[in-house]
Amino acid sequence: MLDKIEESGSDKRTFFELLGGEASGIANIRQLVETFYDIMDSDPKVVPLRAMHQPDLTSAREKLFMFLAGWTGGPQLYIERYGHPMLRKRHLPFAIDASARDQWMYCIIKAMHQLNYDEELIKKLATQLYGVADFMRNQNEPQ
Ligand code: HEM
Repeated sequence: MLDKIEESGSDKRTFFELLGGEASGIANIRQLVETFYDIMDSDPKVVPLRAMHQPDLTSAREKLFMFLAGWTGGPQLYIERYGHPMLRKRHLPFAIDASARDQWMYCIIKAMHQLNYDEELIKKLATQLYGVADFMRNQNEPQ
């Protein structure tokens, strides 16, 4: 489904291109987000993370999809609709500690595996997303 990623470090393509670009990037990001929230909604390992979200995940699904389209280097759907994401500020109402961060990462990594993403692509996306997820932490806790 997705192109194989070069391992030499010389691969300059954006994540959006690696996820299918103009032809299928949008559909693949949509599918990734749907799978991510389906896992969050059903996996007993992430009950605390699920409980932070509203009972209805429709708007969360739509917003994360729009955000990731732009974040990966594709169309800036979220910014066009809502303006600057101010992601950390928008997450301040939720008590995000290392455990919440790790539950979020667990869901996205499990989703990429379920969708048979190339291992190198999983590693690269997970590394970049971990940076964003870790930045969302807002609880004082021992490291
Ligand atoms: C670190 C762990 C994280 C937790 C616990 C968390 C939790 C949440 C919660 C509870 C919401 C509100 C959803 C609702 O309306 O039910 C939310 C919204 C959102 N999250 Fe996260 N999140 C995390 C990480 C991330 C990351 C890494 C990203 C992006 C890569 C992200 C992107 C978003 C976006 C775009 C929204 C919608 C913001 C808005 O416009 O209101 N989140 N998140």
